[in-house]
Amino acid sequence: MTPSEADYQRAVDLLLAGELVALPTETVYGLGADAANPTAVARIFAAKGRPADHPLIVHLAGHDAVEAWAEQVPIIAWELMETFWPGPLTLILKKQAWVPDAVTGGQDTVGLRVPGHPVALELLRRFAVAKGEHAGIAAPSANRFGRISPTTAAHVAEELGERVPLILDGGPCAVGIESTIIDCSRGEPVVLRPGHISPLHLEAVLGRAPAIETSHGAPRVSGSLEAHYAPITPLRVVTGERLLDFLNAQRHRGGTCGVISPNQPPQAGMPHAWRMLPADPVGYAHDLYAALRDMDHASVDLIVVEALPGGAEWAAVADRLRRAAAGAGQI
Ligand code: TXA
Ligand code: MG
Repeated sequence: MTPSEADYQRAVDLLLAGELVALPTETVYGLGADAANPTAVARIFAAKGRPADHPLIVHLAGHDAVEAWAEQVPIIAWELMETFWPGPLTLILKKQAWVPDAVTGGQDTVGLRVPGHPVALELLRRFAVAKGEHAGIAAPSANRFGRISPTTAAHVAEELGERVPLILDGGPCAVGIESTIIDCSRGEPVVLRPGHISPLHLEAVLGRAPAIETSHGAPRVSGSLEAHYAPITPLRVVTGERLLDFLNAQRHRGGTCGVISPNQPPQAGMPHAWRMLPADPVGYAHDLYAALRDMDHASVDLIVVEALPGGAEWAAVADRLRRAAAGAGQI
């Protein structure tokens, strides 16, 4: 799953020419463009069908590039970078004046991340050498707007097909859900999107539990729209106790269900499609989007997800499921 020398060269050439390149990261695949080139960034929005006021994350080759993009970097932000980069954490910081509005959605902040995937890092390093100053790759998840983020190169092809001239294949993503986003631009750090790096991990660095502000419906953080990360098939979250009754009722109505659950099917001969996911939050997150995609392909009438335990370690997955249920097709 390692791109060839020629693949990297072609990727850098495309980026320099203002074209798009899909790239693997450890979270999900990204749809990348030269972040300093507004025309290139506009192509991202066109390919995704995404409203242009939604800010993008800029991916960097290393910490030393941060100050080219961010004007103010609080000490706490440096500490978070030292601890979690390269890795699945995005920091929102006050931007440098030159950073294009196309990237920031016209805001005075910019989202920055050094991804922890060898292919992404190799591409970022090569792009930095070729471009010189202001080398960063703006990359939202490589899916159509509102849909499930891709965790394999095949998913990207399914989502964007001809709209992207090159997809670098780096294998399946290790994390499987999008990065944790933490706003360091307004004093106290605030979590805007939960992810693999949990409040407990952040607390170890911050010295206290971080504030969390994920439920607002404003488009400032597009992942914060209630309907997001959604399959096409309608999706319901049902508690374990109600699950059997719910499935039986569906069957009486002649509806087929695809069940996603951390448990075995309760009885043999269950007529519904059943996908068992790992019972731990990290393993579950890793497999969730692929499972939702499979269910869309299984042509069931309804995706039924067994409700998960509460608790901080499940927060990121619970967030994605809530939005998937809100955004999925209606019954
Ligand atoms: O894991 C990830 O973060 C993936 C990979 C490709 O890095 N990227 C990703 O991008 O999930 P996207 O665009 O699908 O989500 C990025 C989120 C959006 O919700 C966007 O609004 C938010 O980051 N964001 C970016 N810049 C921001 C800013 N200046 N202020 C607030 N939110 C920002
Ligand atoms: Mg996205």
